[in-house]
Amino acid sequence: MAFERWFNRTLNRVWGLIEDRTGMPKWALRPQPAFTFKPSYWTGAFVANSFIFQILTGMLLLLYYQPTVNPTFTSCGQPLGSLSPSPGAWCSTFYLIHSVPMGALLLTTHLYGAYAMIFLAFVHFFRGYYMGVYKRPRELSWIVGSLLLLLTLGMGFTGYLLPYTQLSFNATQVGLVLALRLPYAGPLIGPLLLGDGTAQGLLSRMFAAHVVLIPLALGALLYAHIALFESHGIAPPASSDPLQRRRFTHTEDQQHVPFMPHILLYITKWALLYAGILFGLAALWPWDLPTYVGNLAAAGVVTEPDWYFLWLFKLVDFYGVTPIIAVGASNVVLVYVLLLPLLDRSKATHPRDRPLFIYLATCLVEFFILMTVWGGLTPGVQILPPAIAQRLVPLFAVNAIVVALFHYRYRISYRRRLAAREAAGRLDGAYAPAPVPASPSVPAPSAMEASPLRD
Ligand code: HEM
Repeated sequence: MAFERWFNRTLNRVWGLIEDRTGMPKWALRPQPAFTFKPSYWTGAFVANSFIFQILTGMLLLLYYQPTVNPTFTSCGQPLGSLSPSPGAWCSTFYLIHSVPMGALLLTTHLYGAYAMIFLAFVHFFRGYYMGVYKRPRELSWIVGSLLLLLTLGMGFTGYLLPYTQLSFNATQVGLVLALRLPYAGPLIGPLLLGDGTAQGLLSRMFAAHVVLIPLALGALLYAHIALFESHGIAPPASSDPLQRRRFTHTEDQQHVPFMPHILLYITKWALLYAGILFGLAALWPWDLPTYVGNLAAAGVVTEPDWYFLWLFKLVDFYGVTPIIAVGASNVVLVYVLLLPLLDRSKATHPRDRPLFIYLATCLVEFFILMTVWGGLTPGVQILPPAIAQRLVPLFAVNAIVVALFHYRYRISYRRRLAAREAAGRLDGAYAPAPVPASPSVPAPSAMEASPLRD
């Protein structure tokens, strides 16, 4: 007990000293409502954590990795004088895994960390979509976020080639064919990606994009994303009242928690758990390096991308779907995501009040999962129209029925509640205009949200 008191006092004193000497509270982000101490409110912070993890592990990998297609002098596990010597990029990866202490652990955590970052970015995206956080005034946050998601996928695409395995080389070739088919952008990015057309030109450019260009762009956009978040504040929970956008209640507005150290420590706690899980998984299931590009002894390597691009590869396997059609379809999805804040202009934020948009999002998730599993099970196998219809039609039809039923049930219950409220002749207290916050340290709710009549 005495020790605990002493410990807390000392910690407070040290923290006070740090705050005083660094002026840290001034660079802290704004305080947030106490009820946001739930993982669902900080999914973006988890993506940011995973980005930091990738930078740290990636910088260590750079100490060993050689971005060259030329054979190196070390034998890298193959007999000396082999007819098809391994390229330097593959050889340095092999060396890292087999000869550097903890090298396999480092490389595997970077790989699993990439999967986790992409997965978390999708979770953050769909959470925002379902909760309607893209609505006014957060349209720009949404658009910047969409670009961040694209760049995250770009990190995955460019990183895949770096170990220079035959598998990753084949998949990158297919990815490049698709990228070059992009209308307008294709001819522009073609020379940028391919360089002088040699294998070394391609590897050098993928390397530059993966370690410098995309991380810089990601960092700059992330800065803008967080600045927008800071100026709008965290999105209030979705309103179940279709007549009004939800605002914080008076009580919620009063109970704010400072960013430093509380929220920062909360996020750090999750970051440590994240790193622990990644190290645990990497220790249990270290990555096995597939064979290198040009290994004459390894014929018939299948062409398969990492899981997050499998859906696109499978789409090209559909009968009648050419690369142009596949690229066109993915562009339609991209434009839809970017323009979503302009397409869904209603005030309603609750998922039950946006049946059409919820239906489209659910179709998208299900399509993505189905195609990923399908692509993993039958890579490169052509799919004929009856098989396509057999899987997709029931999926979309059941989806439509479920969303319509939920919406219908909800409308009935809402009408009942509204009638009861009118009969009682009073407004629900939670939606009454919020009074001005008492404490000057608590920021006022964003101007858009403070005015119920804005739109
Ligand atoms: C590399 C990818 C991304 C990172 C690192 C990132 C990071 C963040 C962070 C740190 C926040 C603050 C709140 C929170 O932690 O959730 C945030 C909020 C937000 N993000 Fe992202 N984000 C990314 C991708 C996206 C995507 C793909 C979208 C949607 C297209 C998006 C839309 C938003 C919106 C609308 C907010 C405000 C949400 C609110 O106020 O509750 N972000 N993001």
